[in-house]
Amino acid sequence: MIGGLHDVQVPAGVQAQAIFDLWHWLLVICTLVFVAVIVALVLALRRAPRVAQDTPPDVSSLWRGEPKLARTVWVATGLSLVLLLGLLGASVFTDRALAQMPLANALHIELTGHQWWWEARYDDVDASRIFTTANELHVPVGRPVIVSLAGADVIHSFWVPSLTGKKDLIPGRDAKVSFRADRPGVYRGQCAEYCGYQHAHMVLYVIADAPDDYERWASHQREPAVAPVTAEQIRGRDLFIEKSCAMCHAIDGTPAQARHAPDLTHLATRTTIGAGTLDNDTARRAAWILDPQQFKPGAKMPSENLAPGELTALNAYLGSLQ
Ligand code: CUA
Repeated sequence: MIGGLHDVQVPAGVQAQAIFDLWHWLLVICTLVFVAVIVALVLALRRAPRVAQDTPPDVSSLWRGEPKLARTVWVATGLSLVLLLGLLGASVFTDRALAQMPLANALHIELTGHQWWWEARYDDVDASRIFTTANELHVPVGRPVIVSLAGADVIHSFWVPSLTGKKDLIPGRDAKVSFRADRPGVYRGQCAEYCGYQHAHMVLYVIADAPDDYERWASHQREPAVAPVTAEQIRGRDLFIEKSCAMCHAIDGTPAQARHAPDLTHLATRTTIGAGTLDNDTARRAAWILDPQQFKPGAKMPSENLAPGELTALNAYLGSLQ
Protein backbone atom coordinates (compact mmCIF):
# COMPACT_ATOMS: atom_id res chain seq x y z
CA MET A 1 0.00 0.00 0.00
CA ILE A 2 1.53 3.36 -0.90
CA GLY A 3 -0.22 5.07 1.98
CA GLY A 4 -0.06 8.65 0.86
CA LEU A 5 -0.88 11.85 2.61
CA HIS A 6 -4.51 12.17 3.68
CA ASP A 7 -4.50 15.21 5.90
CA VAL A 8 -6.30 18.55 5.60
CA GLN A 9 -3.61 19.98 7.87
CA VAL A 10 -0.83 19.28 5.37
CA PRO A 11 -1.95 21.13 2.24
CA ALA A 12 0.07 20.44 -0.91
CA GLY A 13 -1.70 22.83 -3.26
CA VAL A 14 -2.92 26.44 -3.35
CA GLN A 15 -6.55 25.47 -2.91
CA ALA A 16 -6.03 23.15 0.02
CA GLN A 17 -3.88 25.93 1.53
CA ALA A 18 -6.72 28.48 1.15
CA ILE A 19 -9.20 26.08 2.77
CA PHE A 20 -6.75 25.33 5.57
CA ASP A 21 -6.21 29.07 6.24
CA LEU A 22 -9.98 29.58 6.46
CA TRP A 23 -10.21 26.63 8.84
CA HIS A 24 -7.56 28.26 11.03
CA TRP A 25 -9.57 31.48 11.27
CA LEU A 26 -12.72 29.52 12.12
CA LEU A 27 -10.87 27.53 14.76
CA VAL A 28 -9.30 30.59 16.43
CA ILE A 29 -12.48 32.69 16.43
CA CYS A 30 -14.76 29.87 17.55
CA THR A 31 -12.32 28.95 20.32
CA LEU A 32 -12.26 32.56 21.57
CA VAL A 33 -16.08 32.72 21.49
CA PHE A 34 -16.35 29.41 23.32
CA VAL A 35 -13.92 30.55 26.03
CA ALA A 36 -15.76 33.88 26.38
CA VAL A 37 -19.12 32.10 26.75
CA ILE A 38 -17.74 29.74 29.41
CA VAL A 39 -16.14 32.66 31.33
CA ALA A 40 -19.45 34.56 31.22
CA LEU A 41 -21.27 31.47 32.46
CA VAL A 42 -18.86 30.96 35.36
CA LEU A 43 -19.11 34.66 36.34
CA ALA A 44 -22.92 34.50 36.22
CA LEU A 45 -22.98 31.39 38.39
CA ARG A 46 -20.62 32.96 40.94
CA ARG A 47 -22.69 36.14 41.11
CA ALA A 48 -26.02 34.39 41.49
CA PRO A 49 -27.51 35.21 44.94
CA ARG A 50 -27.34 32.34 47.37
CA VAL A 51 -30.86 31.52 48.46
CA ALA A 52 -32.40 29.14 50.92
CA GLN A 53 -35.93 27.75 50.94
CA ASP A 54 -37.27 30.57 53.14
CA THR A 55 -35.53 33.48 51.36
CA PRO A 56 -38.21 35.90 50.06
CA PRO A 57 -38.15 36.20 46.23
CA ASP A 58 -36.21 39.22 44.92
CA VAL A 59 -38.35 40.84 42.23
CA SER A 60 -36.82 44.31 42.51
CA SER A 61 -35.35 44.02 38.97
CA LEU A 62 -38.90 44.06 37.62
CA TRP A 63 -39.24 47.79 38.30
CA ARG A 64 -35.60 48.78 38.81
CA GLY A 65 -34.36 47.54 35.39
CA GLU A 66 -30.82 46.33 34.81
CA PRO A 67 -29.20 48.82 32.42
CA LYS A 68 -25.70 47.36 32.82
CA LEU A 69 -26.87 43.86 31.98
CA ALA A 70 -28.90 45.09 29.01
CA ARG A 71 -25.85 46.95 27.69
CA THR A 72 -23.71 43.81 28.01
CA VAL A 73 -26.28 41.77 26.07
CA TRP A 74 -26.38 44.38 23.28
CA VAL A 75 -22.59 44.53 23.06
CA ALA A 76 -22.35 40.71 22.95
CA THR A 77 -25.05 40.54 20.27
CA GLY A 78 -23.27 43.18 18.18
CA LEU A 79 -19.95 41.41 18.57
CA SER A 80 -21.48 38.06 17.52
CA LEU A 81 -22.98 39.71 14.46
CA VAL A 82 -19.65 41.28 13.47
CA LEU A 83 -17.80 37.97 13.94
CA LEU A 84 -20.40 36.00 11.98
CA LEU A 85 -20.32 38.52 9.13
CA GLY A 86 -16.52 38.39 9.21
CA LEU A 87 -16.50 34.61 8.93
CA LEU A 88 -19.11 34.77 6.16
CA GLY A 89 -16.89 37.23 4.28
CA ALA A 90 -13.82 35.04 4.83
CA SER A 91 -15.60 31.98 3.44
CA VAL A 92 -16.86 33.94 0.40
CA PHE A 93 -13.33 35.20 -0.30
CA THR A 94 -11.92 31.70 0.10
CA ASP A 95 -14.47 30.40 -2.36
CA ARG A 96 -13.49 33.13 -4.82
CA ALA A 97 -9.82 32.35 -4.34
CA LEU A 98 -10.52 28.69 -5.16
CA ALA A 99 -12.44 29.67 -8.29
CA GLN A 100 -9.78 32.13 -9.43
CA MET A 101 -6.88 29.72 -9.65
CA PRO A 102 -5.47 30.22 -13.16
CA LEU A 103 -6.45 27.30 -15.35
CA ALA A 104 -4.38 28.03 -18.46
CA ASN A 105 -2.79 24.91 -19.95
CA ALA A 106 -4.80 22.71 -17.59
CA LEU A 107 -4.79 18.94 -17.72
CA HIS A 108 -8.30 17.53 -18.22
CA ILE A 109 -9.40 14.33 -16.54
CA GLU A 110 -12.88 12.83 -16.68
CA LEU A 111 -13.43 11.00 -13.44
CA THR A 112 -16.39 8.63 -13.05
CA GLY A 113 -17.38 7.14 -9.71
CA HIS A 114 -18.58 3.55 -9.81
CA GLN A 115 -19.59 1.17 -7.04
CA TRP A 116 -16.76 0.98 -5.88
CA TRP A 117 -13.91 2.26 -7.98
CA TRP A 118 -12.79 5.30 -9.95
CA GLU A 119 -12.56 5.41 -13.72
CA ALA A 120 -10.22 8.09 -15.06
CA ARG A 121 -10.11 9.18 -18.68
CA TYR A 122 -7.28 11.55 -19.58
CA ASP A 123 -8.70 13.88 -22.17
CA ASP A 124 -6.81 15.44 -25.06
CA VAL A 125 -7.68 17.50 -28.15
CA ASP A 126 -5.89 14.79 -30.13
CA ALA A 127 -8.15 11.73 -29.75
CA SER A 128 -5.24 9.33 -30.23
CA ARG A 129 -3.70 10.65 -27.00
CA ILE A 130 -6.72 9.89 -24.82
CA PHE A 131 -6.25 7.04 -22.37
CA THR A 132 -8.13 5.42 -19.53
CA THR A 133 -6.93 4.18 -16.17
CA ALA A 134 -8.42 3.52 -12.76
CA ASN A 135 -8.01 4.37 -9.08
CA GLU A 136 -4.60 6.04 -9.42
CA LEU A 137 -4.19 9.42 -11.05
CA HIS A 138 -0.84 10.88 -11.95
CA VAL A 139 -0.66 14.66 -12.35
CA PRO A 140 2.24 17.00 -13.08
CA VAL A 141 3.39 19.25 -10.25
CA GLY A 142 2.59 22.93 -10.76
CA ARG A 143 0.10 22.41 -13.59
CA PRO A 144 -3.60 22.98 -12.93
CA VAL A 145 -5.88 19.97 -13.30
CA ILE A 146 -9.57 20.20 -14.19
CA VAL A 147 -11.50 17.09 -13.19
CA SER A 148 -14.95 16.58 -14.70
CA LEU A 149 -16.98 14.47 -12.32
CA ALA A 150 -19.69 11.96 -13.17
CA GLY A 151 -21.54 9.35 -11.14
CA ALA A 152 -22.25 6.09 -12.93
CA ASP A 153 -24.71 4.62 -10.44
CA VAL A 154 -25.16 6.44 -7.13
CA ILE A 155 -23.75 9.61 -5.60
CA HIS A 156 -20.04 9.47 -4.78
CA SER A 157 -17.79 12.27 -3.59
CA PHE A 158 -14.32 13.29 -4.68
CA TRP A 159 -12.12 14.16 -1.72
CA VAL A 160 -8.37 14.50 -1.77
CA PRO A 161 -7.89 16.65 1.34
CA SER A 162 -4.27 17.64 0.69
CA LEU A 163 -5.21 19.10 -2.70
CA THR A 164 -8.69 20.62 -2.56
CA GLY A 165 -12.16 20.42 -1.01
CA LYS A 166 -14.93 17.89 -1.57
CA LYS A 167 -17.17 17.72 -4.61
CA ASP A 168 -19.98 15.25 -5.21
CA LEU A 169 -20.29 13.04 -8.30
CA ILE A 170 -24.02 13.04 -8.99
CA PRO A 171 -25.43 10.79 -11.73
CA GLY A 172 -26.86 12.91 -14.55
CA ARG A 173 -25.28 16.12 -13.33
CA ASP A 174 -22.08 17.72 -14.62
CA ALA A 175 -19.65 19.00 -12.05
CA LYS A 176 -16.05 20.08 -12.13
CA VAL A 177 -13.34 20.46 -9.59
CA SER A 178 -9.91 21.91 -10.18
CA PHE A 179 -6.72 21.71 -8.18
CA ARG A 180 -2.99 22.12 -8.49
CA ALA A 181 -0.43 20.03 -6.69
CA ASP A 182 2.55 22.20 -5.78
CA ARG A 183 4.72 19.51 -4.21
CA PRO A 184 5.49 16.05 -5.58
CA GLY A 185 4.02 13.27 -3.50
CA VAL A 186 1.28 10.71 -3.10
CA TYR A 187 -2.02 12.21 -1.98
CA ARG A 188 -4.65 9.81 -0.80
CA GLY A 189 -8.25 10.48 -1.69
CA GLN A 190 -11.35 8.76 -0.47
CA CYS A 191 -14.95 8.64 -1.61
CA ALA A 192 -16.63 10.95 0.87
CA GLU A 193 -20.31 10.18 0.27
CA TYR A 194 -21.76 6.94 1.55
CA CYS A 195 -22.38 4.91 -1.60
CA GLY A 196 -23.06 1.39 -0.41
CA TYR A 197 -21.43 -1.58 1.21
CA GLN A 198 -17.86 -0.95 0.06
CA HIS A 199 -17.85 2.85 0.33
CA ALA A 200 -14.76 2.68 2.54
CA HIS A 201 -12.90 0.63 -0.09
CA MET A 202 -13.14 3.39 -2.66
CA VAL A 203 -9.73 4.95 -2.46
CA LEU A 204 -8.26 7.25 -5.07
CA TYR A 205 -4.55 8.01 -5.15
CA VAL A 206 -3.33 11.21 -6.74
CA ILE A 207 0.38 10.98 -7.46
CA ALA A 208 2.00 14.32 -8.24
CA ASP A 209 5.08 13.81 -10.39
CA ALA A 210 7.73 16.16 -11.70
CA PRO A 211 6.54 17.27 -15.18
CA ASP A 212 9.02 15.02 -17.01
CA ASP A 213 8.07 11.98 -14.95
CA TYR A 214 4.41 12.72 -15.61
CA GLU A 215 4.97 12.93 -19.38
CA ARG A 216 6.84 9.62 -19.30
CA TRP A 217 4.02 8.00 -17.33
CA ALA A 218 1.30 9.44 -19.62
CA SER A 219 3.02 8.43 -22.85
CA HIS A 220 3.44 4.92 -21.48
CA GLN A 221 -0.23 4.78 -20.51
CA ARG A 222 -1.15 5.71 -24.09
CA GLU A 223 0.60 2.59 -25.39
CA PRO A 224 -1.43 -0.58 -25.87
CA ALA A 225 -0.70 -3.44 -23.48
CA VAL A 226 2.59 -5.25 -23.89
CA ALA A 227 2.20 -8.53 -25.77
CA PRO A 228 2.66 -11.66 -23.66
CA VAL A 229 6.10 -13.24 -24.07
CA THR A 230 6.31 -16.55 -22.21
CA ALA A 231 4.08 -19.53 -22.97
CA GLU A 232 2.47 -19.07 -19.56
CA GLN A 233 1.69 -15.41 -20.21
CA ILE A 234 0.22 -16.28 -23.61
CA ARG A 235 -1.99 -18.89 -21.97
CA GLY A 236 -2.96 -16.30 -19.38
CA ARG A 237 -4.00 -13.82 -22.05
CA ASP A 238 -6.10 -16.48 -23.81
CA LEU A 239 -7.76 -17.38 -20.50
CA PHE A 240 -8.48 -13.71 -19.88
CA ILE A 241 -10.31 -13.51 -23.21
CA GLU A 242 -12.09 -16.89 -22.91
CA LYS A 243 -13.17 -16.69 -19.27
CA SER A 244 -15.52 -14.03 -17.94
CA CYS A 245 -12.73 -11.43 -17.29
CA ALA A 246 -13.09 -9.85 -20.72
CA MET A 247 -16.82 -9.34 -20.23
CA CYS A 248 -16.10 -6.51 -17.79
CA HIS A 249 -12.47 -5.40 -18.19
CA ALA A 250 -10.59 -3.81 -21.06
CA ILE A 251 -6.99 -4.46 -22.05
CA ASP A 252 -6.01 -2.17 -24.88
CA GLY A 253 -4.49 -4.05 -27.81
CA THR A 254 -6.54 -7.19 -27.13
CA PRO A 255 -10.17 -8.10 -27.92
CA ALA A 256 -11.04 -7.29 -24.29
CA GLN A 257 -12.77 -3.92 -24.54
CA ALA A 258 -15.50 -3.91 -21.89
CA ARG A 259 -15.85 -0.86 -19.66
CA HIS A 260 -17.83 -2.19 -16.71
CA ALA A 261 -14.76 -2.56 -14.52
CA PRO A 262 -11.29 -1.00 -14.24
CA ASP A 263 -9.14 -0.83 -17.38
CA LEU A 264 -6.28 -3.29 -16.92
CA THR A 265 -4.05 -2.25 -19.85
CA HIS A 266 -1.23 -1.19 -17.48
CA LEU A 267 -2.43 -2.94 -14.33
CA ALA A 268 1.09 -3.80 -13.19
CA THR A 269 2.00 -0.10 -12.94
CA ARG A 270 -0.63 0.41 -10.26
CA THR A 271 0.12 -0.07 -6.58
CA THR A 272 -3.20 -1.48 -5.39
CA ILE A 273 -6.10 -3.58 -6.60
CA GLY A 274 -9.75 -3.22 -5.67
CA ALA A 275 -9.41 0.61 -5.36
CA GLY A 276 -7.00 0.56 -2.46
CA THR A 277 -8.22 -2.74 -1.00
CA LEU A 278 -5.07 -4.84 -1.49
CA ASP A 279 -1.46 -4.32 -2.51
CA ASN A 280 -0.91 -5.22 -6.12
CA ASP A 281 1.52 -8.12 -5.79
CA THR A 282 1.47 -11.66 -7.18
CA ALA A 283 0.13 -13.44 -4.10
CA ARG A 284 -2.60 -10.93 -3.33
CA ARG A 285 -3.63 -10.67 -6.97
CA ALA A 286 -4.07 -14.46 -7.09
CA ALA A 287 -6.14 -14.43 -3.90
CA TRP A 288 -8.23 -11.58 -5.27
CA ILE A 289 -8.95 -13.32 -8.61
CA LEU A 290 -9.97 -16.53 -6.82
CA ASP A 291 -12.32 -14.84 -4.37
CA PRO A 292 -12.77 -11.06 -4.55
CA GLN A 293 -15.79 -11.28 -2.27
CA GLN A 294 -13.55 -12.36 0.58
CA PHE A 295 -11.81 -8.97 0.48
CA LYS A 296 -14.53 -6.72 -0.86
CA PRO A 297 -17.94 -8.27 -0.20
CA GLY A 298 -20.59 -6.86 -2.50
CA ALA A 299 -18.16 -5.85 -5.25
CA LYS A 300 -19.42 -6.73 -8.71
CA MET A 301 -16.44 -8.98 -9.53
CA PRO A 302 -17.44 -12.63 -9.22
CA SER A 303 -15.16 -15.47 -8.14
CA GLU A 304 -13.64 -17.21 -11.11
CA ASN A 305 -13.52 -20.99 -11.33
CA LEU A 306 -9.92 -21.66 -12.31
CA ALA A 307 -7.72 -24.71 -12.15
CA PRO A 308 -4.48 -23.97 -10.24
CA GLY A 309 -2.41 -23.88 -13.44
CA GLU A 310 -4.92 -21.52 -15.01
CA LEU A 311 -4.74 -19.13 -12.07
CA THR A 312 -0.95 -19.01 -12.24
CA ALA A 313 -1.02 -18.36 -16.00
CA LEU A 314 -3.69 -15.66 -15.74
CA ASN A 315 -1.85 -14.00 -12.89
CA ALA A 316 1.46 -14.16 -14.75
CA TYR A 317 -0.16 -12.35 -17.67
CA LEU A 318 -1.74 -9.69 -15.46
CA GLY A 319 1.58 -9.20 -13.69
CA SER A 320 3.27 -8.61 -17.05
CA LEU A 321 0.97 -5.68 -17.92
CA GLN A 322 3.55 -3.01 -17.25
CU1 CUA B 1 -18.33 5.99 -3.57
CU2 CUA B 1 -18.68 6.30 -1.22
